[in-house]
Amino acid sequence: MAEEIEIKEGLQGVYIAKSEICKVDGQEGKLYYRGYKIEDLANYSSYEEVCYLLLYGKLPNSKELADFNKKMKEERVIPENTKDIIRKFSKDSQTLDVLRTAMSSLSADDSKPYSEDENENIEKAIKIITKTATIAAAIGRIKEGKEILEPDNSLNHSANFLYMLTGEKPDKDSEKLMDVMFILHAEHSSNASTFATLVACSTLADIYAGVTAGVAALKGPLHGGADEAAVKMMMEIGNPDNTENYIEEALAGKKKIMGFGHRVYKTYDPRARILKSYLDKIKGNSNEEINALIEISLRAEKMMIEKLGKSHGIWPNVDFFSGPLYMHLNIKPELFDTVFASSRTVGWCSHVIEYWRNNKLFRPLEEFIGKIDLEYLPIDKR
Ligand code: CMC
Repeated sequence: MAEEIEIKEGLQGVYIAKSEICKVDGQEGKLYYRGYKIEDLANYSSYEEVCYLLLYGKLPNSKELADFNKKMKEERVIPENTKDIIRKFSKDSQTLDVLRTAMSSLSADDSKPYSEDENENIEKAIKIITKTATIAAAIGRIKEGKEILEPDNSLNHSANFLYMLTGEKPDKDSEKLMDVMFILHAEHSSNASTFATLVACSTLADIYAGVTAGVAALKGPLHGGADEAAVKMMMEIGNPDNTENYIEEALAGKKKIMGFGHRVYKTYDPRARILKSYLDKIKGNSNEEINALIEISLRAEKMMIEKLGKSHGIWPNVDFFSGPLYMHLNIKPELFDTVFASSRTVGWCSHVIEYWRNNKLFRPLEEFIGKIDLEYLPIDKR
């Protein structure tokens, strides 16, 4: 009798490693980076501080943060080769495709892309995190037919990103909102893109190869593409008064509503809750289009919770409210996933660095259910 093999589809419920980086409590709706509550980090911290925390495992003191900020600023400029790659893509290209290639090109700027030394890998991570923001802004500008802007080192990471993208220095509220977006997207344990990064790096491929795999895995609408899909749905709804009918029909047609549901959270995603508090702040104070999108998102959220929340464990995730907020910051939907990838580079790199301490090649099995020992016929006899 053949042994009964249990297949874990999508690796659901399978633990792949021990990690100290991130705890996602899907039942209670809680999220911690290195033990710190996501709410505290979003409220009181900065993206730079969160990057330090994720990479080094502790919050920095003032001197450590100042040195880290300086290091990040020194890494902002991207190589000419990378700029040329971005310019060569057609304006119709998807921005994440451009990022994937530009990201891959960064290894050419490093004379020793692979290292066994943890400190050297942290330096590479800082380079990747920082340069990816410059790349993301450059992709956004080239897509709009504008020239790439050089970084402004008088600004912090988030303000500089918005400046490089829009050409304008943001006000304090926009700077804070961008920082919160970066922080909330920085890390989320063994999600699909982080796992892809780990799989690539478990072969001892360099960290640039790993994050390139991460970018590739982030692309789909079930992962990093969900926020764009969600806002496009809101645009399709158009008038807030159409919201309930639209959702009703979509659910009747068994369509998934993007920005809802999660493999781990079976309750409200705490990141979505934080984003909703920002939506509440700007509600009615943005432009007409965004005000309408906000109203649609709030009405859709109410209805989805009534229909699928408690009964099915399908609640808003981080991607539902992020669209109108990105748009409020002048970030276009086609750039959302690329900005998400830029935020997540720190999570990918932190996991690789931790995993390499006890590396084991990922090599799962599959149950073969095909035929064997077939007769090989010459081509004219088939
Ligand atoms: N709208 C309507 N129904 C849903 C949704 C949704 N957004 N999500 C799940 N369901 C239903 C699904 O149709 C299925 O129903 P049935 O059992 O009747 O066939 C059931 O719930 C289970 O869904 P699943 O897709 O098999 O479950 P999963 O654990 O693989 O789901 C998910 C996780 C994120 C892929 C899924 O909820 C989904 O596709 N959501 C929409 C895409 C999305 O918002 N992705 C972003 C996730 S958070 C950020 C990130 O990680 O990038």
